[in-house]
Amino acid sequence: MAVIQYQEALKNAFKDYSYGTHPVELYEPISYLMSLGGKRLRPALTLMGYHLFKDDWESALKPAMAVEVFHNFSLMHDDIMDEAPLRRGQPTVHEKWNRDVAILSGDVMLVAAYELLSEAPAHQLKTILKRFNRTAAEVCEGQQMDMNFASRSTVTEHEYIEMIKLKTSVLLGFALELGGLVADQPPAVIEKLYSIGVHMGIGFQLKDDLLDVYGDPEKFGKQVGGDIIENKKTWLMLKAIEQCKSEELNQWLTKSDFDKTEKVKAVTAIFDSLNIKKQAEEKIDQYFSSAMKSIDELPISDTRKEIILNFGKNLQQREY
Ligand code: IPE
Ligand code: IPE
Ligand code: MG
Ligand code: MG
Ligand code: MG
Repeated sequence: MAVIQYQEALKNAFKDYSYGTHPVELYEPISYLMSLGGKRLRPALTLMGYHLFKDDWESALKPAMAVEVFHNFSLMHDDIMDEAPLRRGQPTVHEKWNRDVAILSGDVMLVAAYELLSEAPAHQLKTILKRFNRTAAEVCEGQQMDMNFASRSTVTEHEYIEMIKLKTSVLLGFALELGGLVADQPPAVIEKLYSIGVHMGIGFQLKDDLLDVYGDPEKFGKQVGGDIIENKKTWLMLKAIEQCKSEELNQWLTKSDFDKTEKVKAVTAIFDSLNIKKQAEEKIDQYFSSAMKSIDELPISDTRKEIILNFGKNLQQREY
């Protein structure tokens, strides 16, 4: 069993799923964004979380899809906030249509996520909804912190980790936990799954920050340097602020009128001079290693562990 089978099943399930039809202006952007695919790692985590304990993993497809639709809703709105031109190698929804369309299509995607989640087993539904609601609120909290930090001159590493835990990691934690919940696992196992997902998620967002600067534009599918342009306080930026001896970085961070390409080039050169990429890679490794260690401690057979261990390895080494 390999992750590719989950991906295949998810792809087909999404192909057959209708979010609605009328008015087309509302639903077309949803089909557009969903059809661009992406890695679909969160629903894969849900299927894995289920499959660690039970064989009929297809029965967790609907809840898994709910997590992915929620994720895509958050991306549609995130791209407005980040003024991002590209997503998955294509124009973002607010660029291709407009801002209002991206807001409303995003809203109805959140409803679609609930619709899919309501297909979870009835005896677990209340627990699942409570956990999902908490997670969704935390994602918004993290997104607000991310925006607040962009206009601050300094942010501590602790604050940064808290912010990415909320905007990104809790959803990976929930995705894995959800698989365990649908598979009727006891609270101790559920907590462990959540913690594995959160640790992986922190490593995952750190890697996202790294790729935002050092990704290959052909593979990455998003605008390289977007975080630098927006003054995002990524881990790389925090370390650079901490370690840069000259005033140059600070000047770029406070300039309101600049050439985007020039800023990205100059700030990247500062990162390079401080060896920030290497430092980030070490940090990423810490979080993934800690997730891997927890996977190893799960009360399941080695073959079942292997799927999720491999998945984690690929996630750490990803280029997009
Ligand atoms: C992007 O998530 C948003 C982050 C939390 C970094 P992904 O990198 O999982 O995006 P897709 O779904 O594969 O496109
Ligand atoms: C986004 O973080 C996290 C959420 C969508 C909640 P980023 O803003 O770094 O994600 P990308 O890089 O646009 O995918
Ligand atoms: Mg963002
Ligand atoms: Mg973004
Ligand atoms: Mg990013």
